[in-house]
Amino acid sequence: MGKEASDFPLKDFYSDIHSTYDRVNRVFTFGRDVHWRKMAAQWCLQPAPRKVLDLCTGTGDFAFEVAEQAGEHVEITGYDFSDEMLKEARIKQQHLERGGKGIPVTFIRGDVHQMPFDDEYFDAIGITFGLRNLVYENSAAGRHLEEIRRVLRRGGQLTVLESSNPSSRIWRFFNTLYLRLILPYLGGALSGNFKAYRYLATSSRNYYSLKEMGALLEEAGFRVNDSRALFLGSVMLIAAVRK
Ligand SMILES: C[S@@+](CC[C@H](N)C(=O)[O-])C[C@H]1O[C@@H](n2cnc3c(N)ncnc32)[C@H](O)[C@@H]1O
Repeated sequence: MGKEASDFPLKDFYSDIHSTYDRVNRVFTFGRDVHWRKMAAQWCLQPAPRKVLDLCTGTGDFAFEVAEQAGEHVEITGYDFSDEMLKEARIKQQHLERGGKGIPVTFIRGDVHQMPFDDEYFDAIGITFGLRNLVYENSAAGRHLEEIRRVLRRGGQLTVLESSNPSSRIWRFFNTLYLRLILPYLGGALSGNFKAYRYLATSSRNYYSLKEMGALLEEAGFRVNDSRALFLGSVMLIAAVRK
């Protein structure tokens, strides 16, 4: 599999926090992350893709949501470089299958830096809370965006759900307080890894606004089709088409 190029020990972080990741997410978003992934899956499936890639799948929640909404005729691949996160995803998959559901998701381990898929293989790509990892203070940012574009077919849609820097000054102030004073400490306490949550809080705080993210995607060869600010602008949902 490809060279792992992140500048930060991101992989170690996710490997450390894998068992508490879902729980901490629910706490920090007041449970809204579940609803946002549902929305992202609806956007992702709107052009009726047959092959969907859930990039930076983590514990697989977005892939499972796509599977739930799409039924079994869609081929879904969950891709991530952390064995531990993927292990959680596979445990969830077995659990869902024991509940009598066929879950057409294949999980593959690897780095976005170099993906083992043919050019234009996927009709749609979704990435939920993962793009920040690929582009924030990451010297391989350009390469990651190029790889995403390469494996998505022309006209295929990239759906991005991600933290965002709110445009309202007041809300930005409260968002910054939350990310500075609450998330790193509470996340650290709940997961046992303060360093990981310090990184996650800092990268969220310094991350793009919806407008900046749109510009970044346009520059990387996508056309923004639709976008929405969620949670008073601290989360964004974007649908961008590969040019
Ligand atoms: C914040 S989690 C998001 C997980 C999931 N998509 C969600 O909605 O909760 C980010 C994931 O990206 C993965 N990741 C970060 N950089 C990566 C890279 N270069 N290649 C593959 N996976 C990566 C991490 O292992 C982690 O599981």
